[in-house]
Amino acid sequence: MNDDILGMYDSFKSSLLELKNKEDLETLRVSMLGRKGAITEKLKNLSSIEDIEEKKVLGKEINDFKKFVEENIVLARTNLTELDFLSSVEKSYIDITLSGRRPSIAAINILTKVEEEIISIFRSLGFGVAEGFELEDDYHNFEALNMPYYHPARDNHDTFFVSSDRLIRTHTSGMQIRLMKDINPPIAAISPGKVGRRDAIDAKHSAVFHQIEGFLVDKDVSFNHLKGLLELFCKRIFGNSTKIRLRPDFFPFVEPGVDLSATCVVCKGEGCKTCGYEGWLEILGGGMIHPNVFEHVGYDTNKYTGFAFGMGVERIAMLKYGITDIRMFYENDIDFLKQW
Ligand code: DAH
Repeated sequence: MNDDILGMYDSFKSSLLELKNKEDLETLRVSMLGRKGAITEKLKNLSSIEDIEEKKVLGKEINDFKKFVEENIVLARTNLTELDFLSSVEKSYIDITLSGRRPSIAAINILTKVEEEIISIFRSLGFGVAEGFELEDDYHNFEALNMPYYHPARDNHDTFFVSSDRLIRTHTSGMQIRLMKDINPPIAAISPGKVGRRDAIDAKHSAVFHQIEGFLVDKDVSFNHLKGLLELFCKRIFGNSTKIRLRPDFFPFVEPGVDLSATCVVCKGEGCKTCGYEGWLEILGGGMIHPNVFEHVGYDTNKYTGFAFGMGVERIAMLKYGITDIRMFYENDIDFLKQW
């Protein structure tokens, strides 16, 4: 073989080994096969050779080399493409040693937590729990609670009527009627649940909110039992230093009826903005169950006495945690929910 061509083989092969990327390959290709490339030059020079035999031999050697170059350039291109792919895979490689990102996990609504806390306090004192129905009838929501159809107290209950007899319960008090009809004294139960009223929605009012009703009936139950129980409850939910105050109030289903206030959770009774500088916050209503209610459920009023009370869960949660807008409970704002 012609020495020149032999040298070209050697230098082409070592260039191949030094290729780093496709740009290098293109430069090599042009230096060999381009218009001014080494092979092109060699082919051009062929015409100046006079000896036909020599021309033939050299021509074949050049063309073999050309073929060799072309084939190897195709191969090198394939290899470089593969390398590119591998290095891109390497770049997107997942580093399993990196610490992960925590998925955000739902939180229990503070309202549910407060409801559960209230329930557990009464459970620990021996009260049973019965939820009742959100859709009630007139009888259990009003009539049997000493609010016949002409009773003015019905007006306070801006009711969502579903039909002339069915309604969204306006309070959870109706559950005491259902339970007392089913169970003879002694009985002590609470009824947590959702209630609805046609209230305009603002920071303090919601058309749907939550209440917990409680009652206890037995022989010789007195007002003092109610007072002692509610005092204990307030201390447990708001803290041991909490004091309570009872004032007369009217609810058709109790007599006497009271409204209970607790010392303000913010100022502890000193007087501040939260309690309107009174030192007291109204927490719940209660009283001794009215004899008319006992008559509806068939309890002997000469034998039994009992008390009942009802509270709003939102109100207690708002006071306990200083939440100023009732709508926050229902908006599902993750930052709000995560605070507690
Ligand atoms: N049901 C009353 C309300 O929705 C709350 C209540 C007050 C319940 C006095 C009672 C009670 O059992 O004795 O406002």
